[in-house]
Amino acid sequence: MNKLFFFSLGLSAVLFASCGNNKPATAPNSPAAVDSLVPEIPPTSAFIDTLDGKPTTLYVLINKNHNAEAAITNYGARVVSLLVPDKTGSLTDVVLGYDSIGKYIHQPDTYFGAIVGRYGNRIAKGHFRLDGKEYTLATNDGHNHLHGGKKGFDAVVWTGKQINDQTLELTYLSKDGEEGYPGNLQVKVTYTLTDSNALQISYEATTDKPTVLNLTNHSYFNLNGQGSGTINNHLLRIYADHYTPVDSTLIPTGKIQPVAGTPLDFLQTTAIGARINDSSIQLKYGKGYDHNFVLSPAPDDTTRPDGLASAATVIGDQSGIVLNVYTNQPGIQFYGGNFLTGTNPLKNGKKDNYRSAFCLETQHFPDSPNEPSFPSVELKPGQTYKSTTIYQFSVKK
Ligand code: GAL
Repeated sequence: MNKLFFFSLGLSAVLFASCGNNKPATAPNSPAAVDSLVPEIPPTSAFIDTLDGKPTTLYVLINKNHNAEAAITNYGARVVSLLVPDKTGSLTDVVLGYDSIGKYIHQPDTYFGAIVGRYGNRIAKGHFRLDGKEYTLATNDGHNHLHGGKKGFDAVVWTGKQINDQTLELTYLSKDGEEGYPGNLQVKVTYTLTDSNALQISYEATTDKPTVLNLTNHSYFNLNGQGSGTINNHLLRIYADHYTPVDSTLIPTGKIQPVAGTPLDFLQTTAIGARINDSSIQLKYGKGYDHNFVLSPAPDDTTRPDGLASAATVIGDQSGIVLNVYTNQPGIQFYGGNFLTGTNPLKNGKKDNYRSAFCLETQHFPDSPNEPSFPSVELKPGQTYKSTTIYQFSVKK
């Protein structure tokens, strides 16, 4: 399947004639030339293992137009590769990832491509009260709880079911007491690669006891291609006129403040790095951008039939690849790769250099269980948690 797919992708890349990889367009009937036109996804065999008694593997999604491909492992429900066309038609792998399951297991702190939970982002001191009861969670970020704790949803083996070439369902039962959370939580994440080059992520969850929940995807994007250098020249717009300021441990102060007059104002499209050295205390605390934005409907946002709102738009300065993010969640974390150090070996021999990728994590606000004025993150028995994120790709020529 893959070989055929690559052949047809390579063929279309050749037909687009000008290639982003500096290779001259070659006759489409040369298999060697066709292979070299497309970045390779890791082989499935590199993801076959058994962890916690469960099998791991790599699933491949191909859209119907055969011009986008995603590779997803059931270890942490992680997006490993995501290939979309750039302005010349050449396929570009826009997410950071590793080429084997072993590297994901041994370098867990980055959360590359993972579904994070039960609570994506931070909970202060790993404590919260719910319905009069005090809960203590695992702490794994100084004194705070981050991305579900020591062994969050990023580090467990999900059960995968490939529905068709475009759709993968992943399920996980998080047991009562896991990492300190109450309730048996049944989670389903569905990845769909659409005809219009969007990766749609739908989340659903139910519980048998009241619990708190905040699921998101932690893909690191570089729209010029993973490992291709700084993201500071990417252009960014975030549809948010407020944000939640944080303290020095990245826990929200509880205030909701306007972005106006701060380097967090991305209401107008701006280069990510344009104000990165501003003396703002918020950039100091975040070591750059690492903040939750409170989404507000954009004036030019036409109502989508699916009820989702525009959250952010990013443009790769070299590739022309445009990413539009849509969600039904109230916030989005914009993280500028400030903790990347270039020490992790990415796919195809690339490095995860400092600020060479960004995350746009659709979410409820950090530390909501301890902030009554933030939208509630409680899930009760009988309710179904539903969240949708669309990462839509296109090109700007
Ligand atoms: C982000 C978070 C950062 C950092 C990163 C993982 O979601 O906002 O502060 O923890 O994950 O390195």
